[in-house]
Amino acid sequence: MNTAQQVESKRNAGYHAAGMVEDGMVVGLGTGSTVFFAMERLGERITDEGLSIAGIPTSYQAAIRARQYGIPLSSLDEYPEIDIAIDGADQVDPNLNLIKGRGAALLREKCVCDAARKVLIVVDPTKMVDTLNALVPVEVLPFASASVSRRLEALGAVPVLRDGVKKDGPVVTDNGNFILDCEFGAIPNPQDLEAEISTIPGALECGLFSAYGEKIMVIVGEGKGCRVVSLH
Ligand code: A5P
Repeated sequence: MNTAQQVESKRNAGYHAAGMVEDGMVVGLGTGSTVFFAMERLGERITDEGLSIAGIPTSYQAAIRARQYGIPLSSLDEYPEIDIAIDGADQVDPNLNLIKGRGAALLREKCVCDAARKVLIVVDPTKMVDTLNALVPVEVLPFASASVSRRLEALGAVPVLRDGVKKDGPVVTDNGNFILDCEFGAIPNPQDLEAEISTIPGALECGLFSAYGEKIMVIVGEGKGCRVVSLH
């Protein structure tokens, strides 16, 4: 798939998701290039239709882009329950387990996903896989990055501290933490691995999202439209 096709797929997925948002909803706003298209379309609907929503951004990037599109923002404090969240993913398996966190926003993304009644995952077809096997990002407390790394190695990972781009040294997340990117190879049981990682003190969250299949709808953008995948 060439880049232009991929961009078109992402636009189709994002626009479709934005079309599912209803007046008065509280909307989780994920991070990444595919969600940008959903935000673009939400901005148009706010201008053209007078759509009234409150957006809960999952990162500084999402907040900055939402403001550019004229989407009113609020917080998880204000709205601990969210009507619908729109987010991207790095990989999606047939049971709608996800790997997220390429953009280092996984911690807030998981908080918003958990708080949402319904979750729309917008992807291009390259993200759909039979078995998850991408790098799993783990957000770690800087104080504990070495000890967490040892524990992740014991689980079979090869953890690598993520470096910044246009910044020397490690990526510092929106929450002030580091990211360990973990190569696990094929992950046939993401629930088990996510549960194991969650027991490590200082591992604040990982990019495996294995608990939300029932409320996830995956919108796979394609050349001329979308394919919708859910467990129901
Ligand atoms: C952000 O940390 C990630 O979880 C993104 O949501 C994910 O990487 C998808 O991004 P793209 O839509 O840019 O592929």
